[in-house]
Amino acid sequence: MSDEASAFGVYVHWPFCLSKCPYCDFNSHVRHAAIDETRFARAFAAEIAATAERVPGRTVSTIFFGGGTPSLMQPATIAAVLDAIARHWRVAPDVEVTLEANPTSVEAARFRGYRSAGVNRVSLGVQALDDRALGELGRLHSAREALDAVAVARSVFDRYSFDLIYARPGQQPQDWAKELKSALAEAGEHLSLYQLTIEPETPFAGLHAAGRLVIPDQDAARALYDTTQDVCAAHNLPAYEISNHARPGGECRHNLVYWRAHEYAGVGPGAHGRLDIADARHATATEKRPEAWLSRVEKSGHGLITDDELTREQMADEFLLMGLRLAEGIDPARYVAISGRALDTARIAELHEHGLVETTADGRLRVTMPGFPVLDAVVADLAA
Ligand SMILES: C[S@@+](CC[C@H](N)C(=O)[O-])C[C@H]1O[C@@H](n2cnc3c(N)ncnc32)[C@H](O)[C@@H]1O
Ligand code: SF4
Repeated sequence: MSDEASAFGVYVHWPFCLSKCPYCDFNSHVRHAAIDETRFARAFAAEIAATAERVPGRTVSTIFFGGGTPSLMQPATIAAVLDAIARHWRVAPDVEVTLEANPTSVEAARFRGYRSAGVNRVSLGVQALDDRALGELGRLHSAREALDAVAVARSVFDRYSFDLIYARPGQQPQDWAKELKSALAEAGEHLSLYQLTIEPETPFAGLHAAGRLVIPDQDAARALYDTTQDVCAAHNLPAYEISNHARPGGECRHNLVYWRAHEYAGVGPGAHGRLDIADARHATATEKRPEAWLSRVEKSGHGLITDDELTREQMADEFLLMGLRLAEGIDPARYVAISGRALDTARIAELHEHGLVETTADGRLRVTMPGFPVLDAVVADLAA
């Protein structure tokens, strides 16, 4: 993986879904009336123009349509957004353009249209290969339908990935190993494997608090995590990030932009960005509510509601928080360049002693396999 210093990503958020999954706290909304995509496409183009005025002259290396469910967008809407990006920035010849898709047949039927529009990678939310688990997760597709969508993705795109959620209620390591092996048989170069998280204010949070949804405890979750690492490594799909696995070269370049603390623009309702303007890094965020975002963009040309200059301290903390999620770890010299001070050697020595971090032959600092399950504590220790 090369650490391209000039990487610049564009994230585009589509905030609608057909139904709301009970575990999910992404900025996604269900609307019963038809969405006016032409109006959204115009607003996306306006926000892209406004962002490009603030950060002109960039070369876009990655574009990511995330959601919500971007596979509900018409291919013509995707094409309009990609056109707007190309009108305002240079687009790298090898640009990665990913679209998140739900694995239903209706959405898979649009894959060729997306490819013609310029998408070259899809990421499918398969979530489970077990119909009972899919039902419990509130998904609208069966395992068969998801695998059929994966097959369409494989036939249309050179690059595809899919997501699974594990550490589900009652899940045992041997069942998960079996399910994961079936997934690996269908996988291309990339898989995202997330442990089920109970997000505040979701229906799952209510059920969990009432004792009606019991998820694996810390030890059981650790056993499932270890199974994930062992099975994937044996299938040549090692973790390059705490929840993401790829064959070398198959990593999601867009997500690497975040984890390597490079620059990215966020477009659409509730999108976040990190923009480098006049030697300062700005953390940006747009209005989350889709219709309020539309009105704001139509009135003032952009939907920004947050635009904060980060301090060196905040940038350094973010650099650690994101970079230590990666198996490649961080370059301590870049930490010094950002923060103006070195990492605390006594703390590093202590983490080394506990086997939670290691220093590579080329001087990078990275979290070890035993360190990943306690990553938050490791980062907190180093950032303190
Ligand atoms: C923006 S969402 C999904 C895209 C698409 N709408 C779908 O559901 O297929 C990205 C991924 O986050 C994961 N995810 C969402 N909520 C989660 C949770 N509470 N715990 C673990 N993984 C979660 C799911 O695997 C999901 O595919
Ligand atoms: S998991 Fe995907 S489909 Fe379900 S509510 Fe979240 S974004 Fe929408």
